[in-house]
Amino acid sequence: MDMSYYVRFKVASKECVARNTYSLRLKCLGFAPRVKPGQFFMVWLPSIDEFPLSPSSIDESKGEVRLTFVVRGDGTRALASRAVGDMIFMRGPYGNGFRFTSKSPILIVGGGVGTAPLIPLVKQLSESRRDVYVVVGAKSSSDLVHTDELSRLLGEEKVTVATDDGTAGVKGTSVDASRLLLEKIRFSYVYACGPEPMLFKLHRLLLKLGIPHQMLLERYVKCALGVCGSCLIDGFRLCSDGPVFSSSRLKRMKEFGTFSRTSSGERLPINP
Ligand SMILES: Cc1cc2nc3c(=O)[nH]c(=O)nc-3n(C[C@H](O)[C@H](O)[C@H](O)COP(=O)(O)OP(=O)(O)OC[C@H]3O[C@@H](n4cnc5c(N)ncnc54)[C@H](O)[C@@H]3O)c2cc1C
Ligand code: FES
Repeated sequence: MDMSYYVRFKVASKECVARNTYSLRLKCLGFAPRVKPGQFFMVWLPSIDEFPLSPSSIDESKGEVRLTFVVRGDGTRALASRAVGDMIFMRGPYGNGFRFTSKSPILIVGGGVGTAPLIPLVKQLSESRRDVYVVVGAKSSSDLVHTDELSRLLGEEKVTVATDDGTAGVKGTSVDASRLLLEKIRFSYVYACGPEPMLFKLHRLLLKLGIPHQMLLERYVKCALGVCGSCLIDGFRLCSDGPVFSSSRLKRMKEFGTFSRTSSGERLPINP
């Protein structure tokens, strides 16, 4: 797929997977794109909005991707109202995606809907017979995303669930649950995606333990082509240098965990 052109996708199925959270399986009606775990598409809903989403499932043989998203504003609300058979336009995929490690065992940590883009990574790593453990955190049991699918991929014993209110799994955050698991198992590598305060806490913990890691970050994406500068984070363009950053880059970023930017470029503090 040429990255700068929109391609039509047809909604093949739609499901409400958690509170305010939907999954759409989309069938590509053009040339099926090659997508790496952690890359993202720009979803265009004409006269409403265009915004980035990372697939929560990639099936190249069928030319399908699945998007899992929380309804936050006009764009995601309109996307959630699409029905089976409707068309949507997307361009991409963009960004670097996760780089595979040969190290093992591997810990994968998801917070809220941030668990979704990690699923294709979990699938590929488990297919390559790597020893993979997952920690999934959410505010409450009704906010947990795709935990059954993760258990099917890895086996229930490899999946730790944490909720802030204790309604499922361990009571606490995904960082609390990861800390407990890191005390028991000597992990060689960690991947993570979720709210930035969670990622920042996990990053500091992993630096202390000397464990290399990669994290998928979010910034305001407009062009997705590395041109407009809207997605800048410490001189890196998230859309082309990221959205996945290695621990060595994260360590040098002053804005990581500190502040983000609005669509107009205004600084927005990130509350811990
Ligand atoms: C690389 C990347 C991958 C993402 N993957 C997912 C995913 O798999 N699932 C998911 O639920 N969310 C994902 N997001 C966040 C998603 O893009 C926003 O939730 C979505 O844009 C909200 O749009 P809206 O029109 O509904 O909300 P709006 O009311 O327009 O905005 C609500 C908030 O969403 C964020 N947002 C809005 N537009 C953008 C934009 N163009 N770029 C970045 N952030 C924006 C801002 O924080 C904004 O304050 C991803 C973001 C990035 C950068
Ligand atoms: S969104 Fe334009 S440079 Fe990244």
